[in-house]
Amino acid sequence: MANIFPPNTNKRFYGIAALVALAAAFVLGGIYYVNFSIPEYEPVQPVRFSHKLHAGDLKMSCTACHSAAQRSSRAGIPDTKSCLGCHQHILPDSPLIAPLREAADPQYPGYTGEPVRWVMVNRLSGHAYFNHMAHLNRGIGCTSCHGDVAGMERIRAPRDARMQWCLDCHRNPAPHLRPLEETASSRYSAADYLRTHSIRDGEGKSIQTPLQLGNFLKRQWKIQPKTDCTACHH
Ligand code: HEC
Ligand code: HEC
Ligand code: HEC
Ligand code: HEC
Ligand code: HEC
Repeated sequence: MANIFPPNTNKRFYGIAALVALAAAFVLGGIYYVNFSIPEYEPVQPVRFSHKLHAGDLKMSCTACHSAAQRSSRAGIPDTKSCLGCHQHILPDSPLIAPLREAADPQYPGYTGEPVRWVMVNRLSGHAYFNHMAHLNRGIGCTSCHGDVAGMERIRAPRDARMQWCLDCHRNPAPHLRPLEETASSRYSAADYLRTHSIRDGEGKSIQTPLQLGNFLKRQWKIQPKTDCTACHH
């Protein structure tokens, strides 16, 4: 009977070389994937809504539109009706506002009632659990995770919203903690906060630096984010 795989050293050499090449490709591919292949995601939206204008120039707080974030796991996208509260009066005839009126203004000749289909930007795959409320009620602000949204014309997803990013903060939360009334501020700086507020720790010592403030809040609220697998993977 013919041997299908004769003990041929040459062939074996090629086999091993192919395996080594494959392993190298995996390792390099892995490094490439982790370091470079998570581009910032900035999709075009069906309405040219600008956070820079609304949260930046007009100084609306993040929870003016995403109020669900403080009481549920999701932050939610505002209903188009809430936009018309202003846009019935502000630029109602602008072509940029027309899609909002088509969706939610029954008086508008082009009314369809079809909701605006915003493109989702931040989304974890199904196997990790995330909760907005658990962060906002414990001193982590929107901009700590989503970046300077009030400076963005169009929303960009954080480049590294991966497990390592969650864990880095869970292991060392103090530098990110801020007073609870500041978690939904569109712009927060601990240094500015300390210039306008005088805060003393338990022993009456004045708090001077952002890190002292973070460490103080961590102790005062007994902040201890979990790092065991089951905290985020059920
Ligand atoms: C006037 C209402 C309004 C305000 C104020 C506002 N947002 Fe939004 N936000 C929206 C709308 C509408 C969308 C969906 C369209 C888009 O992505 O631009 C959105 C989308 C987002 C998204 C992306 C959601 C996704 O798909 O992943 C993030 C993150 C976000 N907002 C954060 C913030 C933060 C942080 C602030 C405060 C600095 C803020 N928003 C203030 C209306 C608002
Ligand atoms: C608190 C009032 C207010 C709310 C609520 C509000 N806007 Fe605005 N919006 C403004 C103002 C003010 C402007 C700038 C008007 C100007 O340029 O003169 C504006 C401008 C815009 C423009 C640009 C219009 C143009 O022709 O330049 C768009 C698009 C827009 N808003 C979408 C939205 C959407 C979508 C929502 C709901 C998620 C929303 N706005 C909620 C006040 C508001
Ligand atoms: C600790 C980090 C963190 C903080 C703080 C945070 N977010 Fe998020 N946000 C995320 C992550 C992660 C997702 C994706 C969640 C998912 O896919 O389950 C997300 C999703 C969103 C979305 C998409 C839709 C939804 O309903 O979840 C919006 C809008 C949003 N965040 C707005 C905000 C606003 C506004 C604040 C402050 C009030 C805020 N976020 C605070 C990490 C954060
Ligand atoms: C603080 C939250 C958190 C903790 C704690 C955590 N994970 Fe994750 N994990 C995540 C997130 C977020 C992702 C990415 C989900 C996605 O891709 O959208 C992830 C992804 C993963 C993946 C998929 C591969 C990857 O890297 O994307 C595996 C496997 C995993 N985690 C295992 C673990 C194990 C084992 C532990 C305990 C040692 C652990 N995780 C602890 C949040 C966490
Ligand atoms: C900037 C800091 C920061 C980031 C980034 C962050 N977290 Fe957290 N997380 C915290 C803090 C602070 C708490 C509150 C801990 C407490 O209550 O003692 C918390 C609490 C949680 C909880 C509730 C369980 C617990 O530990 O008490 C979950 C679940 C969680 N985080 C998941 C995630 C996931 C998943 C991500 C990434 C997608 C993430 N977190 C990113 C700071 C962060």
